[in-house]
Amino acid sequence: MRFAVEPMRLEDIDEVVEVEKACFSLPWPLHAYRRELQDSHTSRYIVARMYPEPAETPPPRLSSLSGQPGFRQTLSALLRPIRRDGRDVPAEPAPPPPSPPAQIAGYGGLWFMLDEAHVTTIGVRPDLRQHGIGELLFASLTHMARDLGADRVTLEVRLSNLVAQNLYRKYGFTEEGIRRRYYSDNNEDALIMWSPPLNTPEYQRLMDDFEAALAKRLNGSMLKSAWDQGAWALRRSW
Ligand SMILES: CC(C)(COP(=O)(O)OP(=O)(O)OC[C@H]1O[C@@H](n2cnc3c(N)ncnc32)[C@H](O)[C@@H]1OP(=O)(O)O)[C@@H](O)C(=O)NCCC(=O)NCCS
Repeated sequence: MRFAVEPMRLEDIDEVVEVEKACFSLPWPLHAYRRELQDSHTSRYIVARMYPEPAETPPPRLSSLSGQPGFRQTLSALLRPIRRDGRDVPAEPAPPPPSPPAQIAGYGGLWFMLDEAHVTTIGVRPDLRQHGIGELLFASLTHMARDLGADRVTLEVRLSNLVAQNLYRKYGFTEEGIRRRYYSDNNEDALIMWSPPLNTPEYQRLMDDFEAALAKRLNGSMLKSAWDQGAWALRRSW
């Protein structure tokens, strides 16, 4: 699999809400995402999309190809004549089989307020957790915050959510307060966490080190393409 971090699009919302429901007891409704994407000039949302490697795509069955564009070329490539000397007559290359649609593995978002960025949400499909995708999204959000001019990043996290807290602490976030009874489903408190200043050489080094380690974990070229096409390009995409 290859992952790309890409801007969330309106047509992604149904799938994002599906992942959101699997992640949170108080999921955002569909229209909240629509409003964020359409109306907000101060927010940025991303998805980690999962693309199958070309080699992982099973060879097409003829029956499933009939009626699709390219079927004729595939069939004629298979039925091309054999030369008398037994060698294949060169034929036009068959078109690649249609790729299955890319799946959304996770998503995340930021609100920008003056020189601060606020992580509004981050979630990964339960069956794809502990493979580095949450970190890929979080590193992308932090990197994007820095690129778009934020000095620091903040967020709220449930007191009981130690997994997410671990991820944030890994990136140097520390707790700087508590919002009492912040979550309306069970009145749980929220920890308020803040990043260190993003624009110091020390933090840039930490980000570089983590991104290099993450690239290894996620298989170098895949992450490289995620960075190149994703977080970096976000600036241009919006
Ligand atoms: C939090 C969440 C996004 C992490 O995603 P993930 O893809 O599983 O995380 P990763 O595999 O990238 O792990 C990144 C870091 O998270 C922490 N972490 C992940 N799974 C963990 C676990 N089971 N136990 C403890 N720490 C864990 C670790 O610090 C890990 O770094 P490491 O691999 O160097 O130890 C995911 O668990 C999730 O979607 N949870 C539900 C939604 C949620 O709680 N969002 C946060 C709201 S504030």
